[in-house]
Amino acid sequence: MLTGRNILLGISGGIAAYKTPHLVRLLKKKGAQVQVLATASALKFVSELSLSTVSEASVFNDIFESNHDDRSDRTLHITLGEWADAMLVAPATANTIARLSAGFCDDMLSLSFITLRPGKPVLLVPAMDGNMYESASVQRNLSVLARQGCHILEPESGPLASGQCGLGRMPEPETIADALEKVLAVRSESALNGKTVLVTAGPTREKIDDVRFLSNYSSGKMGFAIANEAARRGAVVRLVTGPVTLPTPPGVERFDVESADEMLETSRQFFDDCDLFIGAAAVADYRPLAPVSGKVKKNEAEMHLRLIRNPDILATFSAGRRAGQIAVGFALETNGGLDYARKKLQDKKLDLVAFNIYDRRTSGFEIDTNVLTLLNRDGQITELPLLSKQEAAGRLLDTVETLLFR
Ligand code: PMT
Repeated sequence: MLTGRNILLGISGGIAAYKTPHLVRLLKKKGAQVQVLATASALKFVSELSLSTVSEASVFNDIFESNHDDRSDRTLHITLGEWADAMLVAPATANTIARLSAGFCDDMLSLSFITLRPGKPVLLVPAMDGNMYESASVQRNLSVLARQGCHILEPESGPLASGQCGLGRMPEPETIADALEKVLAVRSESALNGKTVLVTAGPTREKIDDVRFLSNYSSGKMGFAIANEAARRGAVVRLVTGPVTLPTPPGVERFDVESADEMLETSRQFFDDCDLFIGAAAVADYRPLAPVSGKVKKNEAEMHLRLIRNPDILATFSAGRRAGQIAVGFALETNGGLDYARKKLQDKKLDLVAFNIYDRRTSGFEIDTNVLTLLNRDGQITELPLLSKQEAAGRLLDTVETLLFR
């Protein structure tokens, strides 16, 4: 997996930096080209000469340094970001993690992190004293980076430089190289790698007045699981979601909306760009014709609401799509109605529809599991077993990938 790959190896200043010449050796032995970017403090723990000898290239540290000669380029920070297939930061100290999460770019490591091409994987290997690692600031900064899509290899437990024993040790170079290979493997094997995916998720809210709305029980879990899995496979993912309480999956660009109209307008901005559209949202089919401003008072024994049809987001996309764009929908029913799903597939001219039943126990809204039946445009039916929504998202995307390949 590393053969012929260009790896940027960022090294920051912790005692574990002494293991990095061995790490460079290992990556090179596996066939990678390694460009070392060391912080000034890293070079207090490990010598520049060792690193440049094992990597067979200059070690870059200062943006303005003159040792950039072997690439003879005044915009080296940009070319490195384009050159790299992946970036590895090991050890990633608390300071470097904070600087990367805040967007600093005043040395070659942080600058190249920012200029890395979108979609290229980053693996961070935090290593520090246990109390530092578990501190609120380090955990907050790591979660910011994880939300940006960085992969994080957890530190190991064992003797630390402080003399204490605990969590914080950098894993051995072999473990780090394996983790990097895994990150690259998932992406390179996926037809979604580098593709652009648009997902809708969650419910919509249709205003009755300023304090009430019509909606449904969708939690967003299914759509978020799909967005998460697509990003893990290397896709550029945009997620347009109704009101839900879920965290944004790593590496996913999220847009929060309320009504079906807003969901359509926000999604429309990304229709042209996407290779794959997946409508997992439970979009309200109707909305109140005339939402009232303020709060409707209760006067009469009965109240009548006039509703009008909402636009169909999936059908709008499907009708206007260009050749090669893939449209996938969901069909939710309350009883066995595969025929309804088949009708949706045909009416909305979809490539695939995922049929699920709302049974309140194993599938449909809110719960963490789902039972999907996939129907494709050629009439093929795939019945998936009871799976977690995350696993179901994986199986759905596996099937979608076979469509992309064709
Ligand atoms: O969010 P969770 O709690 O995890 O629950 C997941 C889910 C049950 C919401 C999900 O698995 C699901 O089935 N989503 C679609 C639910 C639905 O509204 O189905 P539908 O049969 O009404 O719509 C068919 C398809 O058209 C769907 O892809 C829907 O997103 C799309 N649609 C429908 C109406 C509309 N106005 N615009 C649309 O895009």
